[in-house]
Formats: sequence, structure tokens, C-alpha cells
Amino acid sequence: MIGNLNHIAIAVPNLELAINQYQNVFGAFTSTPRDLTDHGVRIAMVKLPNTTIELITPLGENSPIQGFLDKHPQGGLHHLCYEVTDLAKAKDTLSVSKIQVIGDGEPKLGFHGNPVLFFNPKDCLGVLIELEEISVPKVQSRVEIDRIGPAHTFPQFSTDTMEGVEGIGIGINVDFKKPTPEDNKETE
Ligand code: CO
Repeated sequence: MIGNLNHIAIAVPNLELAINQYQNVFGAFTSTPRDLTDHGVRIAMVKLPNTTIELITPLGENSPIQGFLDKHPQGGLHHLCYEVTDLAKAKDTLSVSKIQVIGDGEPKLGFHGNPVLFFNPKDCLGVLIELEEISVPKVQSRVEIDRIGPAHTFPQFSTDTMEGVEGIGIGINVDFKKPTPEDNKETE
């Protein structure tokens, strides 16, 4: 059901320091901060070749991330955002598995102008999950996988499969030649 990882959001107490770290220490391209008054956050995007990191800090009195920063004063991983092609259907699928939507269940427009919903971290392995409806999903191609070159980083990996990950305690075998696993195709 879920497609690409759209972004990872990190809540930070000081956005300028966070931008400085990603830009000047990690050496990543980081956008100019923007105020999202509707969402009660100020945000900067770190563009990586395969995904985006959002650095978010509270804006205004009732920011939804203030409570999170009260619990994690140094900042922390706030949420993961996965792309789906049909948000209403995804919500129904998750509700069957008792994964609770946050709020009234009505999608809001996210930063990219697409409808989004959030799901309770208590039901999602302790991580707040955002689903974003993407009309035309980008497919991670074989070419990109090759360019990233897992073989350089992990010599035991073949470029076609993830054989070798048993070393980290997971035995799976994914064929990257197929854009998505056969059982993971969206049905109309
Ligand atoms: Co997000």
C-alpha cells in the first residue's frame, strides 16, 4: 500500500542551529525556512538524493510539536511520511487494523499542497506516521539503486537482492528489478 518515503521530520528547538548543522557540517542542501502558520510550525527542508528531511520547530502559541519538544528538549525524530495513491482507502485499511487516525480523520493539506493524515504512534511501533496522497507516484528505478551502489557500502550485498541482510537479523530477499513487490500494487 505505501510507496516512497516522502520525508522524515525532525523536531528541533532551534531551527537556525539545525540548518547550520545540516548545511555546514553534514554538507546537505538546505532550503530557506518557511512559516506554515496553518500547521503551527516553521520548517526547513534538507534535500537528499532519495528523500527529504524536514527540520521543524514550533511557531505560535499552540504548535502541535511543542508538547513533543517538552518531552524531548534536544529535539528528536518526529514523524515519517509515506506516499500513498489513495488516502481514503489507506485510512480504511489502517482502521481495519485498529490503527487510529489523529484528529477527525479529515485530510489536511500538507506542506506540498497534497492531502495528508497522521496516525497514532501508539499503533505504529512508537512512530508517528504521516500518509501523503501523491497523484503520480514516483517509482524508484533500478538505475537509482545501482547508482547508490549498495555493493560499494556492503560488499556482501548483491545489487539485485538484499541477500546478506541476515547479518543484521533480518532474512529477506527483495528483487529490486521489480519496481514494487507484486503483492504491493495499488488496485483501482
Ligand atoms: Co510531514
